[in-house]
Amino acid sequence: MNASLKLALIGANGMLAQGIKAIVPASFDLIELDLPDFDITRQDQVMSMIKPLAPDVIINCAAYTHVDGCETHEALAFSVNGEGPGYLAQAALAVGAVLVHISTDYVFSGDKTEPYLEDDPTGPVSTYGRSKLMGEKSILSSGLLHYFILRTSWLYGMRGKNFVETILRLAAEREELRVVSDQQGSPTYTEDLANAIFVLLGSKSQPGVYHLSNTGSCSWYEFAVEIVQQARENQLPVKVDRVIPIRTADYPFPAKRPAYSVFSKQKYEQATGQKMPAWRESLKQYFAARKK
Ligand SMILES: NC(=O)c1ccc[n+]([C@@H]2O[C@H](COP(=O)([O-])OP(=O)(O)OC[C@H]3O[C@@H](n4cnc5c(N)ncnc54)[C@H](OP(=O)(O)O)[C@@H]3O)[C@@H](O)[C@H]2O)c1
Repeated sequence: MNASLKLALIGANGMLAQGIKAIVPASFDLIELDLPDFDITRQDQVMSMIKPLAPDVIINCAAYTHVDGCETHEALAFSVNGEGPGYLAQAALAVGAVLVHISTDYVFSGDKTEPYLEDDPTGPVSTYGRSKLMGEKSILSSGLLHYFILRTSWLYGMRGKNFVETILRLAAEREELRVVSDQQGSPTYTEDLANAIFVLLGSKSQPGVYHLSNTGSCSWYEFAVEIVQQARENQLPVKVDRVIPIRTADYPFPAKRPAYSVFSKQKYEQATGQKMPAWRESLKQYFAARKK
């Protein structure tokens, strides 16, 4: 892409947005937008604020991400995750911007046993998943041609509530942790996803849906074991001496989760010639970044 492109980062105070801000190339002129000044559910406001800014690229990190909260706040979930992305797509169309929108593995049922391809049938099993799928459809039906819908999974990164930080906190407090071992997925470090976004934007990749997560896969239990191991290697306080695998059925949440949500990244790899880093290596990068 050319020098000095205007980039509107929506949901700029969230976790993924921090990863994007950490690595955004100097050639981008960054405009940060988030609540309370910018609300993606307000169609008029989205258009009237985006038009004069006239960004070249809009990256939408805004979402209602509380998966269990979506079950009790359904209207909010569909408004933010379902309708908001459509309003951003209309604004992108009006100013000729590329829209990068972040979606999720939760658009799938999790019934598959081999990595999900971009055109596999969707079938969300939660309100969050259904609302995020509606967001994808809102973009697809907007008439916008220049969009990237990037589905990712199990995100963690700096300054965010995430699984890694939860396990680190609990591992410092408790002797025993129980973690579900019958959900399989791919943890994804926000900075790796952020890098992939700029790789895609800088490549001649076709617009469309792409799957992006770190390579390799694990259960939440295996992820927790690795987090505790790396915490020890990093001399962080670790009290825990037993991490016990449990079944999802033994630890019910309000929202159902897909049992399997590993992605094939072949489409991204073929489009860009790049590979996403392996999840264990990326976790090491995260531990290194936390020390700074
Ligand atoms: N976290 C994961 O494990 C995960 C996995 C797969 C996909 N994703 C997707 O990745 C993206 C980024 O997730 P994240 O974890 O970085 O989310 P996050 O930390 O919750 O950040 C979302 C940001 O959006 C803002 N926001 C909420 N409603 C808004 C609205 N109506 N208008 C404007 N901004 C609004 C939030 O503000 P407030 O905090 O004030 O509400 C927050 O700053 C989301 O699309 C999410 O669905 C996440």
